[in-house]
Amino acid sequence: MRVLIPSVNPYLADTIFFPVSGAPIIASVLVLNSSASGPDSVSRQLVQTTVDQLRGKDASLRVVERDLDANPVPHLNVETTAALRANQTATAAQVAARAFSDALIAELQAADTIVIGAPMYNFGIPSTLKAWFDYVLRAGLTFRYSEAGPEGLVTGKRAIVVLSRGGLYSSGPAQPMDSQEPHLRTMLGFMGVTDVTFIRAEKLGYGPEARQQAINDAQAELAKVAA
Ligand SMILES: Cc1cc2nc3c(=O)[nH]c(=O)nc-3n(C[C@H](O)[C@H](O)[C@H](O)COP(=O)(O)O)c2cc1C
Repeated sequence: MRVLIPSVNPYLADTIFFPVSGAPIIASVLVLNSSASGPDSVSRQLVQTTVDQLRGKDASLRVVERDLDANPVPHLNVETTAALRANQTATAAQVAARAFSDALIAELQAADTIVIGAPMYNFGIPSTLKAWFDYVLRAGLTFRYSEAGPEGLVTGKRAIVVLSRGGLYSSGPAQPMDSQEPHLRTMLGFMGVTDVTFIRAEKLGYGPEARQQAINDAQAELAKVAA
């Protein structure tokens, strides 16, 4: 039997639970959605497909969702940057930023699989998703500098990243303009998440037929990934 206790930390997502020590481990997925297009979002739809497929394989799967559009992580400023990068806790805002960052990192560490929905906005990722990375990439917690160079501390996890784009970037002339996939690969890899599968829904802005084809192709890819 697994005993679950709800989080008492107000910064944690409502759906997160911690297993009591000794209880059987149940696989856990952290879902990050960042599209600002609500129900019309292709990445949200494909993220949901991913979660449904993972749940189909494991009905007891725990799913913790962070909707970074509905509940954005604040952008760093002069006060909170000092809190997260120089351990300053002189103000209430600094204490809160550290508590929030700790909570986000705890969610990440508790997950076996991370599913990220990342639309392309101006050739990169939405600033809401970047803000999440700014809060979880913390020296000593998610990475450290060793004599051998930077070392990621978030290990043993798998990430499935759904990329949605209006144009075509996986090949062709716009390929060098893609600052979405390489940036995500770098940030995930820097903290030790190197088992990353990218699912690309491209040419979504090429009309309804191309859009539907892109969604179908991405769903077919997802079926293979989650199989
Ligand atoms: C603010 C904004 C910027 C965008 N910038 C780009 C871009 O640089 N390149 C591109 O191919 N598509 C761009 N798009 C189109 C989106 O990538 C595309 O609509 C995608 O489907 C959005 O993901 P979603 O459906 O999950 O919301 C942009 C869309 C928005 C809203």
